[in-house]
Amino acid sequence: ASIPDLIAKKRDGHELNPDEIEQFISGLTNGDVQDCHVGAMLMAIFIRGMSEKEICSMTMSMRDSGERLKWPNYRGSVVDKHSTGGIGDKISIPLAPALAACQFKVPMMAGRGLGITGGTLDKLESIPGYKTQLSDEQIVELISTVGCGIFSQSLKLNPADRYLYAIRDVTATVPHNALIVSSILSKKSIEDLDALVLDVKYGVSAFMKTAEQAESLAEWLHKVSEMLGMRTCCYITEMNNPIGFCIGNAIEIEESLDLMKYKVGHSKDLEELVCEQVQTIEEGREMIRETFKNGTALEKFHDMIIGQGASKTIADQLLSNDETVVGAILKLAPIQHKALAPQSGFIQSMDSFKLGTIVQRLGGGRLKSTDKIDFSVGIRLLKHIGDEIKENEAWAILYTNDDASTRYSLFLDELHTAICISSTPVAPLQRIHKILL
Ligand code: URA
Repeated sequence: ASIPDLIAKKRDGHELNPDEIEQFISGLTNGDVQDCHVGAMLMAIFIRGMSEKEICSMTMSMRDSGERLKWPNYRGSVVDKHSTGGIGDKISIPLAPALAACQFKVPMMAGRGLGITGGTLDKLESIPGYKTQLSDEQIVELISTVGCGIFSQSLKLNPADRYLYAIRDVTATVPHNALIVSSILSKKSIEDLDALVLDVKYGVSAFMKTAEQAESLAEWLHKVSEMLGMRTCCYITEMNNPIGFCIGNAIEIEESLDLMKYKVGHSKDLEELVCEQVQTIEEGREMIRETFKNGTALEKFHDMIIGQGASKTIADQLLSNDETVVGAILKLAPIQHKALAPQSGFIQSMDSFKLGTIVQRLGGGRLKSTDKIDFSVGIRLLKHIGDEIKENEAWAILYTNDDASTRYSLFLDELHTAICISSTPVAPLQRIHKILL
């Protein structure tokens, strides 16, 4: 069949057989498939869906579109975690070095921003010199010496996901079980893991809006990973409110460093989520917390970013407890706008969809696949859910390069409507809804 025939078959609601799926996926790398084919096929899949058999075939064809990593010397200790995407979701950034500090090996193939959700790789690229595309040799070197690396799909590692991911991001075809499952698991199954934790999010800014949808996605992820022979556990977590205090790229690296430095005032919300995600490893939670308290996670992060191209000077400076030294590297946008509370009370919710959209539109995310990310824009929240606030007290700071435009004042209006204050006390957030083992 021709590529347009395959698209037509899916458009008309028929099941594609494994050979047809393989033809389409290998076409992404051999030149038979063009961007317009990809956009049309993704939309057909989005609307028509895929059977269990199709999802498995798609995941395996994507996994096999390039090479696979192998860790025979580290059997039993190769682990990773992946999230379906959220706002302020920087969990992977402190978690990978923390796991490495606990003697695990973490070959983390991460993603870029999708829609309004930020991407681990985009955030890390706000560190000058940090490279996300590594050769196989560099990955092996990093894992054997440091223990962790956070890198991207490449021309050699899962080129199919690299291609599909970029086009999904800009064609409104992200939130579909078949596409999310194949994207995540094709990446993770290349890593040759002993254990995988998946964080499946639901809420206003997640791809899955309800806990039920997230549970269905989690079940799919669980089922397909089992078929691929990967031991996986899924956390289903709340994503109505942003995670931690910071949303953006450079600003989320700063916040991740604050946790790894165990700085006074670091986000407890972020700390708990990071630690909770390893509670299935015996005493994992406290082990991870200890690596933040004793600085070993920070050391691993330092060594990892050097291993991925940052200079020693930059890496050393990022360890500094002096905010101006760190700030000079992770340059935040110079214009700061404070959002003030319209009334006194307790913070009930902060709309992560609105906050994420503002950061994306200010340049922190992409609208076209060729868009360059502006690492410097972001939002710093000054409060967590449940905190008390006084009328006219600042609850957020927006960092931007753009002060005067009408577009900008629309964002400010949005910012002011993103908070909900209750006159009676509010319970702290329960992030974890369910765990599928
Ligand atoms: N993360 C991924 O890697 N892929 C998706 O499709 C969604 C989140």
